[in-house]
Amino acid sequence: MIRLHNVTWRHAGQMRGRRGETLSALTSISFTVPQGEFRWLLGPSGAGKSSLLRLLHLETLPASGEFELLGVDIRPAVGRSVLARLRQRIGMVHQDFRLMPTLSVADNVALPLRLQRRHETDVSTEVDAILNWVDLAARKGARPAELSGGEQQRTAIARAVVARPDLVLADEPTNALEESQASRVIAMLREISAMGTTVIVATHNDALVRRFPAQALRLEHGRLVSNE
Ligand SMILES: Nc1ncnc2c1ncn2[C@@H]1O[C@H](COP(=O)(O)OP(=O)(O)OP(=O)(O)O)[C@@H](O)[C@H]1O
Ligand SMILES: [Mg+2]
Repeated sequence: MIRLHNVTWRHAGQMRGRRGETLSALTSISFTVPQGEFRWLLGPSGAGKSSLLRLLHLETLPASGEFELLGVDIRPAVGRSVLARLRQRIGMVHQDFRLMPTLSVADNVALPLRLQRRHETDVSTEVDAILNWVDLAARKGARPAELSGGEQQRTAIARAVVARPDLVLADEPTNALEESQASRVIAMLREISAMGTTVIVATHNDALVRRFPAQALRLEHGRLVSNE
């Protein structure tokens, strides 16, 4: 489960606006997502979608408010090792992919499994299966710089889901994909959530949201303006 109550968070350089008012990337955010549910995360550019996903990915902690993630009460006193272990249960697709440039597609996708110290025969079976699924089996030896934008994005998606995490966070995971691939990716994320993984997907793609109706968290100016 994810539970936020009155969570506020701001970027380091974002304390004051031009008129001296306090600006926050996220202001008084409260919502709950039960385990295994799917949510769209919507809102105009600059609304705070990526900021909220980074917070849910534990890349940063709230400035104030209550935050519970996967059964852990997240507060500054939580140790780094607890946070690191928790992050291993989260798969994240960043808006800018964040693939490791020196690693092949297969090794990028294998990273979460190797972090879990899974047996190498297991690793190669799981990596091959997921690369087949995202239609990248033929590119498994390529480095990220040799890939198209869509191929990089599918690599990032494969890496986020390969270890069957408890939570998948995806920041505009279909913006580099053609329509049929985008639908396939969302259909897969819906399946993953039906099997018990919580999935949150930020998107600007209204057509995709209409094709896959689901409850949506909607942000505007860092505030949650609807959740239905
Ligand atoms: N590193 C930063 N330092 C200061 N302010 C930032 C930083 N990164 C983002 N912001 C600001 O935080 C707010 C929220 O940004 P965020 O990236 O979360 O929006 P978003 O909803 O993901 O937008 P988009 O749809 O364009 O990806 C914006 O006002 C943005 O200008
Ligand atoms: Mg964003």
